[in-house]
Amino acid sequence: MRIIIERDAGAVALRAAARVADLIHRSPACVLGLPTGRTPLALYRELELVRKHREEGLSFSRVVAFNLDEYVGLHPHHPQSYTAYIRRNLFDHVDIDAANTHVLNGRAEDLQLACDAYEEAIRDAGGIDLQILGIGSNGHIGFNEPGSSLGSRTRVKTLTRETIEANAPSTEDPRELPRVALTMGVGTILEAKSCLLLALGEGKAPAIRDTVEGPLAAQVPASALQLHRDVTILVDEAAASRLQRHEYYREMEAARQRLEAGAGVPAEEG
Ligand code: GLP
Repeated sequence: MRIIIERDAGAVALRAAARVADLIHRSPACVLGLPTGRTPLALYRELELVRKHREEGLSFSRVVAFNLDEYVGLHPHHPQSYTAYIRRNLFDHVDIDAANTHVLNGRAEDLQLACDAYEEAIRDAGGIDLQILGIGSNGHIGFNEPGSSLGSRTRVKTLTRETIEANAPSTEDPRELPRVALTMGVGTILEAKSCLLLALGEGKAPAIRDTVEGPLAAQVPASALQLHRDVTILVDEAAASRLQRHEYYREMEAARQRLEAGAGVPAEEG
């Protein structure tokens, strides 16, 4: 695992955007896996990716996108749906082709069929090149709540009360949010060629500690990333505050940067 600890949320967004932009420059028809939530907001609209599109000509015209998850039962135009979120915060502001954007259909008549078709669409696209992830304070990725099989595929998942409460905006009644969602499975996520997990704030510190330094456990679905050979955990100081090997990760990153700056020296992996 590569652990990058940045000073604050702004620096995390800049670093993540640089990674995405670099991939798009190298591979304009790349396949991105996209999360929702507050954490990636600065990466999307508020800051970097949309700015890079407008000011630096970063083009999404051939990029293919798959969203990680969606609530069951919400109309795509419902402001709390993840379809509305990703349109509002990214798709509506860049030149991505709507035909290349994919979000799970939480209103499908046969939900499992819709999930199976999603898996197939990911395969047909050649797999996900870069899966960006947030993390729940209980260690979930996507909507893979604690106890999710580490081999799970895209499916229906019942949400925990803490997730519903954490995701409800303070002005709204959490009871209005669906208790059930569709999510790519942990196994689906692990098939991405690279994963980039973002976390901000002290509230995520225990989950980041468990993900990076805890045992591999279905109770902490994000810990399954320990099995992946190309994972970057990109966090701010507060989210890194419970990591025991904090200093070592900083040294490792500094050494990696020196190596990358030196001609032709291969960087350490994973
Ligand atoms: C939701 C999403 C996750 C996201 C998590 C964290 O539960 N399904 O994909 O990572 O929230 O959200 P936030 O970034 O708002 O803390």
